[in-house]
Amino acid sequence: MGKRTIVTMPGDGIGASVLPEALRVLDAIGFEANYVHADIGWEFWIKEGNALPDRTLKLLEEHKLGLFGAITSKPKDKAASELAPELQDKGYVYYSPIVGMRQHFDLHTCLRPCKSFAGNPLNFIRRKGDGFDEPMVDVAIFRQNTEGLYCGVEWTDPPPVVRDAMNTHVKMAKFKDVPGEDLAISTRIFTRKACNSICKAAFEYAKKFGYKSVTVCEKPNVIRETSGMMMFEAREIQKDYPGIELWNTNIDAQMMWLTKNPEDYGAIVSGNMFGDIVSDGFAGLVGGLGFACSANIGDEVAVFEPTHGSAPKYQELNPSIVNPMAMILSACMMLDHIGEAEKATKIRDAIATVIAEGKVRTYDMMKLTGGPDVIKKGAATMTEMTDAIIAHL
Ligand code: NAI
Ligand code: MG
Repeated sequence: MGKRTIVTMPGDGIGASVLPEALRVLDAIGFEANYVHADIGWEFWIKEGNALPDRTLKLLEEHKLGLFGAITSKPKDKAASELAPELQDKGYVYYSPIVGMRQHFDLHTCLRPCKSFAGNPLNFIRRKGDGFDEPMVDVAIFRQNTEGLYCGVEWTDPPPVVRDAMNTHVKMAKFKDVPGEDLAISTRIFTRKACNSICKAAFEYAKKFGYKSVTVCEKPNVIRETSGMMMFEAREIQKDYPGIELWNTNIDAQMMWLTKNPEDYGAIVSGNMFGDIVSDGFAGLVGGLGFACSANIGDEVAVFEPTHGSAPKYQELNPSIVNPMAMILSACMMLDHIGEAEKATKIRDAIATVIAEGKVRTYDMMKLTGGPDVIKKGAATMTEMTDAIIAHL
């Protein structure tokens, strides 16, 4: 097979800092690819009224694989006011480019693995008897990525046809007389196809990597229709995986159990919103945003990204102090996806060694407040961290 072409989308703030670090590691492990740069982010919103230009979509369409750093999003009013003067009041509306990318390419499956590295000073510890213990977490969160509360079907002051239709539901009675401008509706839409596909992906992964359970983390006792459909599909699919147990937790209870027995969970499946919540919760147990990697996978296109944002308060710092691991681990997920798991494992092993040795630590791993002074306090720069990982390959 010829060299792969990978679309690199550094984006804003620290996204543009960490992405080249991942490429250095990919190079060092001997992964040969062509990289094509693609525009995304705030700059293109300001200049073109579109944070996700069509030319970027075209590149992804053509090459199918993307590595993405992070973007900056701002609230509606702020976005409108920063638009170039000649584009103001021309009807441009800001949409998050990452959400846009997920919708455009139907990147239905978001996978967010959260696995503790031994020796990470940020690992969760739990009181036990007179002392503490450190449960090793190893979960793979499957978040439905295109539907649910993030599908964008929402209104403040819904149009009359929508209100009329909703009024046919008996539970709308108490909202019947609320004035339109005082009524906001965000819909939670699940399709059977998407529920089936995300559950199937979780069971397949559990089988492949030897997880003993798949947990549906929703709230079917209250959100009966949507969460209920997810649960139903999971039960059906489980019949094909007799060796894997199906568990069911409610999102609220799951957030509490997170700190009681996180080591008990394997694969977890959720809709879009709850998947976003539970994945941040688990990420917090294994080191937080500096370690949280993710994949957005569709039938054709896949995009890999750290879950952190553009961290604007650190973007000007030179040298950069942020932890490149989330980005590098996201690149490892890309390698897994394209059948280069051996290289991914070598990179993860190098990261594990750097963490276990504890000699090179970014500011987050030292529990410092970020700022230019962290280097004086002994924190490694982003570049030094990447160098240390490369040295252990
Ligand atoms: P953020 O993830 O950018 O930063 C939050 C804090 O986490 C930082 O201030 C820093 O303390 C820490 N942090 C993040 N990445 C780190 C790393 N690699 N190493 C060490 N520490 C790290 O989230 P925030 O501040 O809420 O949002 C900033 C901007 O990013 C906003 O415009 C937001 O909309 C956008 N954002 C973009 C995302 C994406 O591109 N997928 C995801 C989340 C937020
Ligand atoms: Mg999030």
